[in-house]
Amino acid sequence: MIVSPRLRRGTLLTLEGGEGSGKSSQAEALASLMRAQGYAVTLTREPNGTELGGIVKDVFQSARGGIAVTPEAELLLFAAARAQHVQEVIRPALERGEAVLCDRYTDSTLAYQGHGRGLSLDHIRAVNHIATGALPPQFTILLDVPPETGLARKDHERLGDSIGRESLEFHQRVREGYLELARREPKRIAVVDASLPREQVTEAAWRHLQRFLDHLL
Ligand code: TMP
Repeated sequence: MIVSPRLRRGTLLTLEGGEGSGKSSQAEALASLMRAQGYAVTLTREPNGTELGGIVKDVFQSARGGIAVTPEAELLLFAAARAQHVQEVIRPALERGEAVLCDRYTDSTLAYQGHGRGLSLDHIRAVNHIATGALPPQFTILLDVPPETGLARKDHERLGDSIGRESLEFHQRVREGYLELARREPKRIAVVDASLPREQVTEAAWRHLQRFLDHLL
């Protein structure tokens, strides 16, 4: 008989990575593995984990006519989506004692708007603090892939998205930014080589996640 693991309290887990790192399919796979072990899981995503976040995501689709968005406005749009998402989805799930697995969160803003766009990391940390009501991720899997590989995987999709269409140098800064965040917080952020075949990426990510979850029980 499988005994359902019960978390003493909810936990916020995040998945991060550049374009084409396979986050979404890994998020599905990891949520299934957790559920199979009896965890109650809320799988969600940013920026479009709420209706408001869907509108924010739309701003970056070229179908909207290519609205020019300044870096500061971009930061605040993602922060607005996050504030809504934390209050509407994440906190209620944590209060129910669930594990929340979130595809992109605060590190995305540090990597893209900070390292990518060059905005102050201190300012972004302050904005993240306000947006989340001081709710940091407890554990993060960073799916690391060279941007050349990631962008080639996404080629058809990224044409519709203004951030995805940024230069290779921009995506290289994002990648380096993520790796720098992982060096700063090696206990929280586990780096997984996402250029490997999908099943191997899932296996490696799951090993890290399981080790973290085992400590919570
Ligand atoms: P997605 O491709 O994972 O759906 O993410 C949407 C895009 O939004 C992606 O290009 C990364 C970008 N993004 C930021 O630039 N900053 C953020 O804070 C978030 C959440 C996403």
